[in-house]
Amino acid sequence: MSIDKPWDGRFTEPTDAFVEAFTASVSFDKRLYRQDIAGSVAHAKMLAHVGVLTEAERDAIVKGLLEIQAEIDAGTFTWSVALEDVHMNIESCLIARIGEAGKKLHTGRSRNDQVATDLRLYLRDSVDAIDGSIRRVQQALISVAEREADAIMPGFTHMQVAQPVTFGHHMLAWFEMLQRDRERFADCRKRINVMPLGSAALAGTSYPIDRVFTAQALGFAAAAENSLDAVSDRDFAVEFAADAALLMVHLSRISEELVLWSSSQFDFVELPDAFCTGSSIMPQKKNPDVPELVRGKSGRVIGDLVALLTLIKGQPLAYNKDNQEDKEPLFDALDTIQGCLRAYGDLIPNIRVKRQTMLLAAKRGFSTATDLADYLVRNGVAFRDAHEVVGRVVRYGIDGGKDLEELTLNELQQFSPAIGQDVFDVLTVTGSVAARRHLGATAPEQVRQAIGRARARLGGLPGNRFPDQA
Ligand code: ARG
Repeated sequence: MSIDKPWDGRFTEPTDAFVEAFTASVSFDKRLYRQDIAGSVAHAKMLAHVGVLTEAERDAIVKGLLEIQAEIDAGTFTWSVALEDVHMNIESCLIARIGEAGKKLHTGRSRNDQVATDLRLYLRDSVDAIDGSIRRVQQALISVAEREADAIMPGFTHMQVAQPVTFGHHMLAWFEMLQRDRERFADCRKRINVMPLGSAALAGTSYPIDRVFTAQALGFAAAAENSLDAVSDRDFAVEFAADAALLMVHLSRISEELVLWSSSQFDFVELPDAFCTGSSIMPQKKNPDVPELVRGKSGRVIGDLVALLTLIKGQPLAYNKDNQEDKEPLFDALDTIQGCLRAYGDLIPNIRVKRQTMLLAAKRGFSTATDLADYLVRNGVAFRDAHEVVGRVVRYGIDGGKDLEELTLNELQQFSPAIGQDVFDVLTVTGSVAARRHLGATAPEQVRQAIGRARARLGGLPGNRFPDQA
């Protein structure tokens, strides 16, 4: 026996079985059931408020919907592909359950404004959950930064040793990337939090609806200004996916560094065993699978963004069925970032930092050459001349197989009379990082101050960037 579709009055033939499955979205949009029911409850209350429904009808609808929600929660609800999507599944069940009053729920509404509303409610909740997940990773970064505020490592440009930095400073660089991601999601939330409901199919409705009432009931900041736009707009979804893609790009860059650092060539960190796997053939292997997978998963979220942009590009106003294709990329992006954030929130606090290897690596590669040039400048040499002198010192070191710290005063003085015994204070990597002690720089004392500010900025958004810089 075929199930009656809520829209089949003008049809004389049943839907082709393949087309029924092809056009259905319930397999993935059932995920919106809580938001769908919340939207329907608010809509029913509004209809009663303006006198379109009686209070008894409203109460029956609300009670029925909440019972359905409890069934779905419990996993006992039967979803039907013939009923196409989450909206018609729930509405049909309501009618079967409460009868005549249930048939009135869809008054002054369309699935077009309904689905746009559901999706916005869903993404609003998702943005709030994501904020918590990003903050958890940031907390982890702060804790490692605090522990390793004075651990010295080589800083790189062009992947060549550049200048020594502190590991804590590097962790806080990652913190900043994630902080901007939080800000982007918070900004996107403002445009998500606008209510399409009441736009109906595209033109609004002839019932005397009160959209402000519904918007307030659902916690929306406003009701959408234009019905045509409200049912067709998915740019909030594109923004969400763009923010997710950029977050993944950040996590991918972090992953790349963890993969490099945990290799035996670098040997800067050891990742916890619980986050790595072995090789079935090479007994010595400990592979950084989690960072590699996070790096790899950035590709799918970038793909989700491109899918959404392309989905919207050719659509005339107002609603088109194309929009049904918005959900899977969005859910995929959401699930992927939540999984990756969860993994890094767990992994990062358990990274073991190998201070000794990092220190040795920081000493190699003439990483304090800039400090020597700055020293000469302080002793009256022009910077360009100082640069030239140090270049020759480095050449001398390369030829003799010695790092700057290992040269004697006599050797150094052959290159410039401006060099004195105190040069060794600046040639050490410890001296080098300690000298960079202004706002935003790598000195351990600055890292500790930055940690204090980072903690304060973990709270509400947008963060106050200068809380303790009076
Ligand atoms: N399942 C549809 C979607 O995801 C719901 C809206 C359908 N509207 C319509 N007029 N067929 O977009």
